Amino acid sequence: MCGIVGFAGDQNAAPILLEGLKLLEYRGYDSAGIAVMNEGKIALTKSQGKIANLCEKTQDGTTMPGFIGIGHTRWATHGAPNDTNAHPHLSNDGKFAVVHNGIIENYMALREELTAKGFVFKSETDTEVIVNLLELYYKGNLKAAVMKTAARLEGSYALGVACADFPDRLFAVREASPLIIGVGVGENHFASDVTAIISHTRNVIYLEDGEFAELTADNVTVYDCMGNAIEPQVTRISWDIEAAEKGGYEHFMLKEIMEQPRAIKATIEPRVKDGRIVLDDFDMTEEQFKNINKILITACGSSYYVACAAKYMIEQLCRIPVTTELASELRYCDPIIDERTLLIVLSQSGETADTIAALKECKARGARTLAIVNVVGSTIAKLADNVLYTWAGPEIAVATTKAYTTQMAVMFMFALYAADKLGKLDNAEYDRLVCELLLLPGVVQRAIDLSSDIPELAKKYYKTRSLFFIGRNVDYAICLEGSLKMKEISYIHSEAYAAGELKHGPIALVDDKTLLIAAACYENLFEKTLSNIKEVKARGAEVLGIALEGNRAMSAEADEVLYVPRTEPMFNAIAEIIPMQLLSYYVAKENGCDIDKPKNLAKSVTVE
Ligand code: M6R
Repeated sequence: MCGIVGFAGDQNAAPILLEGLKLLEYRGYDSAGIAVMNEGKIALTKSQGKIANLCEKTQDGTTMPGFIGIGHTRWATHGAPNDTNAHPHLSNDGKFAVVHNGIIENYMALREELTAKGFVFKSETDTEVIVNLLELYYKGNLKAAVMKTAARLEGSYALGVACADFPDRLFAVREASPLIIGVGVGENHFASDVTAIISHTRNVIYLEDGEFAELTADNVTVYDCMGNAIEPQVTRISWDIEAAEKGGYEHFMLKEIMEQPRAIKATIEPRVKDGRIVLDDFDMTEEQFKNINKILITACGSSYYVACAAKYMIEQLCRIPVTTELASELRYCDPIIDERTLLIVLSQSGETADTIAALKECKARGARTLAIVNVVGSTIAKLADNVLYTWAGPEIAVATTKAYTTQMAVMFMFALYAADKLGKLDNAEYDRLVCELLLLPGVVQRAIDLSSDIPELAKKYYKTRSLFFIGRNVDYAICLEGSLKMKEISYIHSEAYAAGELKHGPIALVDDKTLLIAAACYENLFEKTLSNIKEVKARGAEVLGIALEGNRAMSAEADEVLYVPRTEPMFNAIAEIIPMQLLSYYVAKENGCDIDKPKNLAKSVTVE
């Protein structure tokens, strides 16, 4: 979704803003723009489409001199993606420029109010009311105008504000939309996320909701919503720019698939001490655990599909009822939740608007909350009672891979930890499962190694226009994710079905043009899924089976088979997704798709 950058320093701002915007491209966008202050005026350049267009228009920023500026990548919400609707927006008097991420819910009322006062609107965006409110409230005191404007806004916003009367400073404002400040030496930055500024500084301030900051080249002042200066906490970022670069791979997605063994190791190993799982950041006592009578897991997209798989494992090990609910639904379904509910929230970005809203709703109803998040300092990480980080490192490709598998690894650890606290495992079984857990990085590497035929298989299947993924129980949960991967990066229509459901309707669609991917990695259910494979084969479908290494029965039925390594069955899920990720990747590549930045999608979905 939209990306924001701001720079105040002693070098030309435009090239630095463009560089920052390029690093935010992965968030998804359809137009971009920059504004730079120079000689008491604000110069503006905007462009529909890729940042390359903006670079061309500004000759890589060289046509826009000035040391202070703001920039934006827009993911259209209000109005078409065109030059007029692109940010930054200027006030009617040209004195103010604003970039905005989020949605102003009361913008229609504000627009009418401002129109009645004689303001003219050029764009269809909700953002233009902000910049004109600044003009309305500005009486020579910029900070006061920023505060008055923010007080009128309802909804979510991260704002970058420049004013021609104050050519040495910028304001950054946060309410329910991510915004960080990068504290440098002789220069300061703001951005939607760390990726945009990590090559300039590793010292970061995470603004809280309601806070705003004033930046000059030499100083950063953070204020609370009442305008009182506060002492911000400066966090040192441990990863560096290489982690956010392709490192020789053609796409971030492929790099991130290949990074999974390392990411899973980084997530698991530090949490196993002397053979015991130690979740330092999760301080529930045995008594509190025993008081829990229900676990509810919520998330969106792929994170939700981790929940679907984790449900089986937690119930199997802990014998506590686990329900899963999409965050976008949970917030409106009047959920039955009380102090005896443990709510687990999964999110790579930690900024997904629906997940944040669901978390707030459940907290308000008394649930104890645990967040599993990849981005340190993100909104969800701050809101939850406890947080367990997935140490996947920055994930740049819009389609998640390593964040998904590291979330799964944390859920495995949680299930074992909880089962132990609840006294559901004897020592020998606990020790065995912990040993199996530690083997997972190697298992995932083996799954990658076993997938070497996939580029060829993709050549056979890339023209398919519609396909099904089927499986039962955890196999089905993994199919949900496999199917999402396929549709989001290759744009091929794909559906995941619980294998037994096929004959209750969808089989009507099956014919000799159908590709069916059947996951059958659980031996107790293998025969059942095999029967479903026979049913679709009888109707002419092409079947690609996914089975455990050494399984011969699958190759007797399916046209093609991909194998995954054998491991503790409870942990199969993590290996089973690997061939599905790789197949989606290579099918998308054969189709010439923009793999890292699929159309219409955003990495971090910060609006409802
Ligand atoms: O950052 P989150 O994990 O909260 O994001 C949730 C979904 O938006 C995300 O998983 C989305 O479905 C991805 N495009 C999947 O690849």
